Amino acid sequence: MSLFDSIFGRKAIVDFNGFVDWHSHILPGVDDGVGSLDDSLTILARYEEMGIREVWLTPHVMEDMPNRTADLRSGFSRLSEAYNGPIVLRLAAENMVDVLFAGRLAAGDVLPIGPRGDMLLVETSCFNPPMKLESTLEDIRSAGYFPLIAHPERYVYVESPDGYRRWKELGCRFQLNLLSLTGFYGQQAQKSAEFMLGRGMYDCVGTDIHGRSQLDRLRSIRLSAGMMDHLESLFLNKLY
Ligand SMILES: [Fe+2]
Repeated sequence: MSLFDSIFGRKAIVDFNGFVDWHSHILPGVDDGVGSLDDSLTILARYEEMGIREVWLTPHVMEDMPNRTADLRSGFSRLSEAYNGPIVLRLAAENMVDVLFAGRLAAGDVLPIGPRGDMLLVETSCFNPPMKLESTLEDIRSAGYFPLIAHPERYVYVESPDGYRRWKELGCRFQLNLLSLTGFYGQQAQKSAEFMLGRGMYDCVGTDIHGRSQLDRLRSIRLSAGMMDHLESLFLNKLY
């Protein structure tokens, strides 16, 4: 962003050059994300134009979409073979905190995320916390992983900053959903995202892209100078 833009409060477009997308539903045909291999390859081609360098594929694993680890690995192999571009593709999962996850965690049947493979990406309902959230987070730590909370800004049941601090005390790391900064998920999510981004509470960023229709939205994200500065320091990827 130029000095001129900063002084006059103009908003600038986010620059994705070198970006690591920590959250995507690009693995085709396994969840509510991209449906076909063609669409996956189209998104990756657009990601190349944007300068994105690495993408974590994080398909849902939940009772309603009980993707098996072996099937996700096979799908990942097929996509990796079909894609010949420069973007580094990596496989993990977005795990709903539910009974299925508890069983998978106990059996060691999980797909970790992060350069050291020491985190598990987890989500909950946006409206209600699961019954045993804290004990599940402790179980994740006992199994040797850090819980990486997907889009914490979208959980309306977290009513004050103390709720987020409690998660941090339990060893959680936070992942920003980029579109939350645009109001795509409502005003409260946007406000919470700005609050946490401004206080350096996030550890990484994901697009949570579910299809081609979100590409233009991502490419046109405009932020104020203050938010852009915070985002750019987060893009430097504290976790890499
Ligand atoms: Fe997601």
